[in-house]
Amino acid sequence: MNLFTPLNIKNKRLKNRVVLPPLVRFSMVGKDGYVTEELLEWYEEVAEGGVGLIIVEASCVAEDGKLRDNQIGIWDDSFIEGLSKIASIGKKYSVPMLIQIHHAGFKEKITKVSEEILDKILNQFVEAFKRAKKAEFDGIEIHGAHTYLISQLNSKVWNTREDKYGGSFENRMYFTKELVLRTKELFDNDFILGYRMGGNEPELRDGIRIAKYLESIGIDLLHISSGVPNPERKQEIKIDIPEDFPFDWVVYLGVEIKKHIDIPVIGVRNIKTEEQASILIENEMLDLVAVGRAMIARPDWVKFAKKQYYKRTGILVE
Ligand SMILES: Cc1cc2nc3c(=O)[nH]c(=O)nc-3n(C[C@H](O)[C@H](O)[C@H](O)COP(=O)(O)O)c2cc1C
Repeated sequence: MNLFTPLNIKNKRLKNRVVLPPLVRFSMVGKDGYVTEELLEWYEEVAEGGVGLIIVEASCVAEDGKLRDNQIGIWDDSFIEGLSKIASIGKKYSVPMLIQIHHAGFKEKITKVSEEILDKILNQFVEAFKRAKKAEFDGIEIHGAHTYLISQLNSKVWNTREDKYGGSFENRMYFTKELVLRTKELFDNDFILGYRMGGNEPELRDGIRIAKYLESIGIDLLHISSGVPNPERKQEIKIDIPEDFPFDWVVYLGVEIKKHIDIPVIGVRNIKTEEQASILIENEMLDLVAVGRAMIARPDWVKFAKKQYYKRTGILVE
């Protein structure tokens, strides 16, 4: 097995192990949240560049839940037309496409947000999932990382609520569980349910527990990034990692979590070169590698990687 070995998830075939992670292309999106020509060109460049899976950038379930003004929306049916143009690029190049569904959360502590508001946002997520399916994406990715709303809820550091949305582990996962339950009928064999989670929520052991739980409620694909860190860890690296681990600490989270679950795991952060990506896949440390900023620099990253692979190994990949 190598970086260019296909992987099937449900009925969808990924032609290799390289993923475009969600990247908000702020400068390409206006304040109204609609898909632009420039954005379509970007996704076309990446699809043509040979990537195995595209996760379309964070689309917001509510106008007041954006992380920045310039972010694509999915809070109204009027967004479906533009979004379906992105989805059709995936079909043209046989690249499965998930779209990330997002709410940024609140400036005040998650403990201060009323139960009614969270009930409302849960409904907005359900409606957003239906729109993503109508736009004919191959699935969705729930944004449950990076200290945004769902990460805030999952976090035992921040979520000390005493209602159905918080307190115990089960309650902290209630929003996610309810969302999955209420959208179950959408997820047939042609529609993938992905989840981006914090592997440190706040510690790796919490991430492992969350990952196992997500697998048990039917998530098809896990993407491991960072969560709400332990406030006592002031340094850049938010967990303990072995000194000789040759990749980023966020990659370490993915590699460790993969040991505890059977569904495919995407790892990410600072994976730049073909050789780095190949080591992670060939040694089965990860099922898929996401290449973000390096893909912005070079949308044909996979084509280039095939050349690098040939130079290194003498093996030609079509
Ligand atoms: C410009 C930019 C936009 C991003 N937008 C998102 C996003 O929409 N959703 C998300 O989960 N992560 C987002 N991220 C994080 C990336 O998906 C990725 O995890 C991060 O860039 C680390 O990977 P890399 O080192 O390969 O770039 C963004 C990162 C950048 C640089």
